[in-house]
Amino acid sequence: MIDTTQLLILGAVVALGYFMFNGSRHDPREPPFVTSGIPILGHMFGMLWHGVGHWGNQAKKHPEQPIISLDMLFTKFYVITSPDLMQAVQRNSKTLSFEPLLLFSAKNISGISNPKTLDLLKETDAGGQGLGPKIMHAMTPTLVGKPLDLMNIHMIRLIQPFIEKLGDSSTFDLYEWCKDATTAASTEATYGPMNPYKDKAVQDAWWDFETGLGALIANTLPWLTARKPWKGRQKVADAILKYSQEGGQKEGSKLTAVRLQFAMEGGLTLEEYSQLEVGMLIAFVSNTVPAMFWCLFDLYYRPELLDELRKEIEANAISVTVDGMHSIDLTAIREHCPLLLSTFQEILRTRSNSSPTRVVTKDTLLADKYLLKAGNTVSMPSIPMAQRKEVWGDTSKAFDERRFMNSGEKDYSRRAGGFLTFGLSPTICPGRHFASSEILLLVAMVILRYDIVPVGGVWKEPTKDTTSMVSIMGPVKGKFPVNASPRKEYAGVKWGFHVEEGKGQFPLIIG
Ligand code: HEM
Ligand SMILES: *[C@@H]1O[C@H](CO)[C@@H](O)[C@H](O)[C@H]1NC(C)=O
Repeated sequence: MIDTTQLLILGAVVALGYFMFNGSRHDPREPPFVTSGIPILGHMFGMLWHGVGHWGNQAKKHPEQPIISLDMLFTKFYVITSPDLMQAVQRNSKTLSFEPLLLFSAKNISGISNPKTLDLLKETDAGGQGLGPKIMHAMTPTLVGKPLDLMNIHMIRLIQPFIEKLGDSSTFDLYEWCKDATTAASTEATYGPMNPYKDKAVQDAWWDFETGLGALIANTLPWLTARKPWKGRQKVADAILKYSQEGGQKEGSKLTAVRLQFAMEGGLTLEEYSQLEVGMLIAFVSNTVPAMFWCLFDLYYRPELLDELRKEIEANAISVTVDGMHSIDLTAIREHCPLLLSTFQEILRTRSNSSPTRVVTKDTLLADKYLLKAGNTVSMPSIPMAQRKEVWGDTSKAFDERRFMNSGEKDYSRRAGGFLTFGLSPTICPGRHFASSEILLLVAMVILRYDIVPVGGVWKEPTKDTTSMVSIMGPVKGKFPVNASPRKEYAGVKWGFHVEEGKGQFPLIIG
């Protein structure tokens, strides 16, 4: 499983570690240290093999501990699984911060290396100019309200041809289809008609970059140790640069416009902006694609629930014009399909493997008890949390499609650590409404119009790519071949979507 590239990286990391390792540096007040089977390097191997899942795996091995420390040679990870300590992290958001991860991403994911630029991007608390967090925060208002709905209108116009195509295709790979539909729709909704990802070669280069991130992130002679993702990143950055030079942003979304505006005002070059932009698509598609796939999987896997949802959507979210055109209405999906919305969130709860992360910027005594030392990382894996009875009640391990329906007592929204799929306050995914619109509109239309059956007839879970460094939604490894057939109920019917400008967001639960 481990290839030469990874060994090379490990070699480099170990060498570096030797210089930085300063003997016994554990303070007795730090959370208890656990070792994996292999001394010192064990957790490194764990990361390479299990990606973001490694923290959760470790925490599950020590269920009696609310917090553990993992030694990664020249940095430590504190892994938390107790809702109380998670609240303590929220109370200490000044010194347990998400912001340093933005600089890490600019450096190790986007490959920015100019020290002056890194200083511009660095958060102000760490002595930088704060441009990274500034660009990130500027995005939030462009992902709600009117700009969001404008993006949704574009997105859905682009998704529909993919749904039409299902009717006349023979066997196809459902995962690949989710990937193509999401990438095409998200990128064009963002970048507008001159969308650099329209070129399939650019799209493929981007996926080389994304799936090879594990090696690229080490950022150690990447042209040697991570050649494929490194070349992919360069190709995409060149395409974005060309798009920018030709003024593509003028016809793109508000989201793209503010990112460019803040980058330029903040003193980045167009080349550097383009490099940063490559990483941005991770937020857009790396979680949406698998989330969409698992929604389809989990619904077709449960025929009774599928039937109920079809009826709910038919009764509440479809309008039919005089000429027989059927439209699915986004506002109605948001406001009048409670079972669909609850099922969606239960699928996210049970399928996600999120691990909200914070960097310790100053030594912090957590809950008056555990010393977290500056420079290390705090990780709060959702899987051990999602199985806790005090968070989810006796049915914590079961799939309950009605879990999130309004029912007074069962109000999970106020429980600490209740729902970590979109992160943990105060750092919550600003793209959650866009992702939810995209997934729910697509899923609603697909389930109404088509029956889908896997080759072999059984909905058996495909293998997941557990090494992903960026996706918390269980990306699929390999293919998932299926056949789709139009349902006879709607033979000959024409379909569309209805998205109005200026309506609100989804009433989603967040953690
Ligand atoms: C089902 C799909 C998605 C899931 C599960 C998801 C999940 C997350 C999570 C867990 C975080 C990190 C929070 C933390 O570590 O504390 C995050 C951050 C972020 N997400 Fe998403 N996301 C999704 C889709 C999207 C989309 C479509 C966009 C863009 C429109 C987006 C934009 C972002 C951005 C910009 C951040 C960084 C937030 C910040 O720095 O304040 N996400 N997302
Ligand atoms: C990030 O890149 C630096 C080199 O710029 C490297 O030393 C460090 O190990 C990388 N971080 C990770 C987590 O791979």
